[in-house]
Amino acid sequence: MSISRRPRRRRIRQFRSCAERPGVSPPDPQDISVKKKGQGIVDRLAFYRQDLGALEAAARLRGLTPRRGVDFSSNDYLGLAQSARLRAAIAGALERGVPVGAAGSRLLRGETEDQTAFEAAAAGFFGAEAALGFGGGYVANFAVITTLPQRGDLLLMDALSHASTHEGAQAGRAEVATFRHGDAGHAEDVITTWRRGGGTGAVWIAVESLYSMDGDRAPLDDLMGLADAHGFLMVDEAHATGVFGPGGRGLAHHLEGRDNVVTLHTLGKALGGSGALICGARVLIDFLVNRCRPFIFATAPSPLMAVAGQEALAILQDEPWRQAALQERVALFGAEMGRRLPQVPLSGSQIVPLIVGPDAATMDLAAQVQARGLDVRGIRPPTVPEGTSRLRVSLTLNALEAEVIRLVEVLEELWPDL
Ligand SMILES: Cc1ncc(COP(=O)(O)O)c(C=O)c1O
Repeated sequence: MSISRRPRRRRIRQFRSCAERPGVSPPDPQDISVKKKGQGIVDRLAFYRQDLGALEAAARLRGLTPRRGVDFSSNDYLGLAQSARLRAAIAGALERGVPVGAAGSRLLRGETEDQTAFEAAAAGFFGAEAALGFGGGYVANFAVITTLPQRGDLLLMDALSHASTHEGAQAGRAEVATFRHGDAGHAEDVITTWRRGGGTGAVWIAVESLYSMDGDRAPLDDLMGLADAHGFLMVDEAHATGVFGPGGRGLAHHLEGRDNVVTLHTLGKALGGSGALICGARVLIDFLVNRCRPFIFATAPSPLMAVAGQEALAILQDEPWRQAALQERVALFGAEMGRRLPQVPLSGSQIVPLIVGPDAATMDLAAQVQARGLDVRGIRPPTVPEGTSRLRVSLTLNALEAEVIRLVEVLEELWPDL
């Protein structure tokens, strides 16, 4: 455990590049001569080239590649991104004059009827008192974490929380601590230590209900007990919304509506669009409207995404077969893996990390699987901890059952003997 106490006044933080995370050290900008006295600029881009070179040498260079092959990598779990109903909803909205862009922040003429109606419907659907839309889950997490926990509070997050939570923690006012992944007992120990050390504020426990890179679940009920005793529970439902809980209402649905629970539901994963909703007590949502800088000083999400979101919620209610079909794909993948690669542990959800270990072997395996027409991506540090590079198999309705079986055949053929 590490609790970082924050000085009352902090100097403006220097933003770090992703490369500064553990693993690959970036070059020191001071060591790279970009300017020689009296000679003007020598090479403005030297630092960036060298940083990328270091990543490449460590087999960690990323690049953007066009989507190709059967989808085993997206978060479009229910296949809604391409659905006829979402397309029709957007087309209908354009037809009735809904603008493409919000044209301003929500507080400055950016408010649209579609967004307001969607938030009201979504709050009702998820069981919260109120909901507020953001352009994406990353910014929503960052926004909430930098706005709700106050100076003197403790932000206590699972060690494997999403990058947006970590970034929010660094930029926020509260003291920050982590607890071992999925370990509510350790979370309690951290709180006890913090209280003994004089911590008197609220504790904000931040977790994902279904972890994005591991596909496992947070012990929500145990953490809720801690939150009831000490403060608040923030649940990022990004990968559970639409997939788990009654009618796709998420794994924290039974907690939703409590005054000390804040949830995040993304629209860009199972719901097939883009954007996110923060759900919680009305007073917390009003506080965000008044105090949350990423909300106040940003153009509102496109009203078309509110239309898409509302339609997606209707699809969840009208077409429950989608969740059932996804669980069948998960079961099929599990059964086939059990037959062909029984030594590889599985998560039991639609996100299946197949841990390889070394970065290069992982990316090599991913490339070979992709070359057979199956789009599985390799995930390396810093996205996941050192030594746990993996194939992240994402099961969605975009892959047919026969393609799921084919994937396991290919994995059996290529699985490295490490
Ligand atoms: C757990 C989690 N939270 C938040 C986000 C960010 O959501 P968005 O993609 O909508 O920005 C992601 C994205 O993958 C995620 O996995």
